[in-house]
Amino acid sequence: MKQADLYELTREETYPSGYPSGWYHVLDLKELPPGGVKELQVLGKHLVAYRGRESKQAAVLDAHCPHQGANLAGGDVQGDCIRCPFHNWAFEADGCLSSIPRLEKIPRARTRSYPVREHYGMLWMYHDVSGEVVEPPYEPPAIADIDDGTLRFRGVYAPRDAKMHISEFIENSVDFQHFSQLHGGLTIPWTQIKIPGLRIVYEPGWELDPELEHVAYFLTYAYLSFRGKHYRKTGASVRVTLFGPGSTVWFRFTLPELGDIVMFQTHVPTAPLNQRVRFRYYADRKIPRPLVWYVVGHWISQWRADVEIWERKIMRPRPVLVSLDGPVHKMRRWVKQFYETRPALAADGVAELPR
Ligand code: FES
Ligand SMILES: [Fe+2]
Repeated sequence: MKQADLYELTREETYPSGYPSGWYHVLDLKELPPGGVKELQVLGKHLVAYRGRESKQAAVLDAHCPHQGANLAGGDVQGDCIRCPFHNWAFEADGCLSSIPRLEKIPRARTRSYPVREHYGMLWMYHDVSGEVVEPPYEPPAIADIDDGTLRFRGVYAPRDAKMHISEFIENSVDFQHFSQLHGGLTIPWTQIKIPGLRIVYEPGWELDPELEHVAYFLTYAYLSFRGKHYRKTGASVRVTLFGPGSTVWFRFTLPELGDIVMFQTHVPTAPLNQRVRFRYYADRKIPRPLVWYVVGHWISQWRADVEIWERKIMRPRPVLVSLDGPVHKMRRWVKQFYETRPALAADGVAELPR
């Protein structure tokens, strides 16, 4: 084993094992037109996504055929079924075998089919930490001011993968010390180039949703200071909704008198220490394009500074904490739920009884 691989393995061992339960953004909808097929290697699984030609419904199935193990991603879509490229067996969106060429009486066979939803240009799949198919305990996000057209789609950003564990994003949200230390210097948006003299002051907070078990919030008011003098009126409030284990989060930037910008940040692991990250943002139509560019770019600059740390750090199960740190233990107690499994669904969609 190479030294670099050994280092990554040592890092990996410090994090919780397993891919936590939650809704994962596995594809953009435009990547999956009717009749489209895509292979996915995410969450420790080999999957195939396809879209029926008639129903226009998307499905995500285990990729390997129950017959002789061919990869269904090499097949094609016929009507609403995906057809295996090897012996042309056809499977429905629920994973059930529906036909075998030249054979009338077919066996009961299936490949696993995972819960999927389509919202805001993204295909979401529900993954359980056990890897089994379960009934999702909650639905993907619904954001009223995107749904009613107040906020309009403004763009996406698809960076390179980040070699980090998925838990780092949520860990970061309670790390109150690092906001002034790592993110305090103002940078040119989308870059790491610091603007001399100007700093950002953060007033961070973290709380659990009073009703929704799977939701927590990071909140801050952020404003400028110049050579030590604070200009509180230059600020904007930011609310980050942590929805599940960090697979889907979104930022709401409220700009006084202009309106809101909402930006999704989604993570899907392709390995324990590798995340595919996507940003997708919407803004009030009153907010001019350069301002959206500035706000989103400012966040991306900060995110890049975090990534540089995340890609080389380990997780401390018992960190040395001081009064400047945020509610690390409270956050970790909350995150535990995403590593607890739920009862698997049987082929007929009913939860299997424990054996
Ligand atoms: S391996 Fe898929 S039909 Fe035979
Ligand atoms: Fe950060």
